Amino acid sequence: MTVALGIPRTRQSAVITDAATLPADRPRTDALVDRFGRAATDLRISLTDKCNLRCTYCMPAEGLPSQPVDALMTADEIRRLVGIAVTTLGVRQVRFTGGEPLLRADLIDIVSACASLPNRPEISLTTNAIGLGSRAGKLAAARLDRLNISLDSLHPDVFALLTRRPFLQRVLDGITAAGDAGFASIKINAVLVRGVNDDQAVELLDWSLRSGHQLRFIEQMPLDADHSWTRDGMVTAAQIRQILSEGFDLTPDSAPRDGAPAELWQVRRPGSDLLLGFVGIIASVTEPFCDDCRRTRLTAEGGVRSCLFSNDETDLLGPMRAGADDETLARLWQGEMWRKTAGHQVNSPDFVQPERTMSAIGG
Ligand code: 5AD
Ligand code: SF4
Repeated sequence: MTVALGIPRTRQSAVITDAATLPADRPRTDALVDRFGRAATDLRISLTDKCNLRCTYCMPAEGLPSQPVDALMTADEIRRLVGIAVTTLGVRQVRFTGGEPLLRADLIDIVSACASLPNRPEISLTTNAIGLGSRAGKLAAARLDRLNISLDSLHPDVFALLTRRPFLQRVLDGITAAGDAGFASIKINAVLVRGVNDDQAVELLDWSLRSGHQLRFIEQMPLDADHSWTRDGMVTAAQIRQILSEGFDLTPDSAPRDGAPAELWQVRRPGSDLLLGFVGIIASVTEPFCDDCRRTRLTAEGGVRSCLFSNDETDLLGPMRAGADDETLARLWQGEMWRKTAGHQVNSPDFVQPERTMSAIGG
């Protein structure tokens, strides 16, 4: 193993040496394949675990201790890893997420650096839209392709109850700014919480259809800091369809799903043939789509995770800072993905909730 030559014998150099060997039963391919015949082409990168909201299904009221800045990947380190992902590992889509990625002062530089790579991936951003008003135009100019914006209620009091912050208007202003900046695809993500906003699903869909942004409901997953998720308490995909049927007729869309987490439904008014638009339902818990999963994830501290629900990860940032070359980093990444499990165990009696919350892993 030559990579460690010249690198001081630190803990990281041991990591580099060990990881350089991939298991003998792994096919000789650069792609991020796993033991179940899947290949990851879709990379999610958390840019920070900090957030300016405190959604009850994600963060505790007091927030989480945040990482020191030097523990986070820099813009250059992110560009280097995305470069390896697109030139060697077969990644085609990159989504920046958090925490709240708009809290990174260098977000525009990160997007622009990734959009300038040879083999440039499709680049998207998941955000709560606070602060998007002043940056939507710059993000479009940096060649961001798509935006997903979280919005769980159109009522200031309910929004404040769910996010523990009174910022609904800022989010709505951010969405307007994104539309004005000319983004072709703006999707709205909503999580329904029983007894809080589950009576607002029809209203949210009505608003989305009128504003021209596709709405997707995400089933609440056990990734909250308070560990307050319960199977009986969550609103299931079947219940979401039931609630929506009070205002709309839903017909399954016939287009192939092609690895997308959302199942798409055509939306019409009862008794009308006019297609108003589509709604997506992401049933991660009750109708998991793990068999067709194409995801690989990087935490803000540069750890590769093969699944939202993984209990372990492979550090890339330590080896990179210790001098690892691109080939070694690629092999470390491939090794972690080869260990990807067949699916999450949320529906198994032995399920143990990961220690990290959605804000720390990257949604
Ligand atoms: N379950 C489902 N969705 C969640 N999100 C955050 N935490 C959870 C959870 N526990 C959502 C956010 C955002 C997206 C990235 O994930 O609302 O829209
Ligand atoms: Fe922030 Fe998103 Fe978590 Fe809400 S769900 S607290 S917006 S990271």
